[in-house]
Amino acid sequence: MSIPTDPVHPTTLYVCVTCRAEGDTSEVRAGRRLHDALAAELGGDPAVRIVPVECLSACRRPCAASLTAPNKWTYVYGDLPAESAAPVLVETARLYADAPDGLIPWKLRADAIKKGSVARVPPFALPGHTA
Ligand code: FES
Repeated sequence: MSIPTDPVHPTTLYVCVTCRAEGDTSEVRAGRRLHDALAAELGGDPAVRIVPVECLSACRRPCAASLTAPNKWTYVYGDLPAESAAPVLVETARLYADAPDGLIPWKLRADAIKKGSVARVPPFALPGHTA
């Protein structure tokens, strides 16, 4: 049994659109603003699919986003400023897409990504399937 893949968009960037920055009373939540900035920054890059989600369980560290792909480690990041994180996160997504197992060498990671790491999750393996 194989894990389904999306050959057109093998890397998925989930962005929590319900994150609200502390003290921010803007009508459009910080997470939504980050999502929109990321979509613009990606500019339709076929290597990365961006998907809005409601909550990644990193609510105390807004904004939050996650990178995942079949047979790769999954990362969850937090503390991403809505107004400035998009270029860093897009660069990280492209490095992630290029990494066979999703592990980005530490020295290539931006400081915001090093400091904002919330969790990494091993590749999903179905019974009888090695990742
Ligand atoms: S509301 Fe964004 S992680 Fe929960």
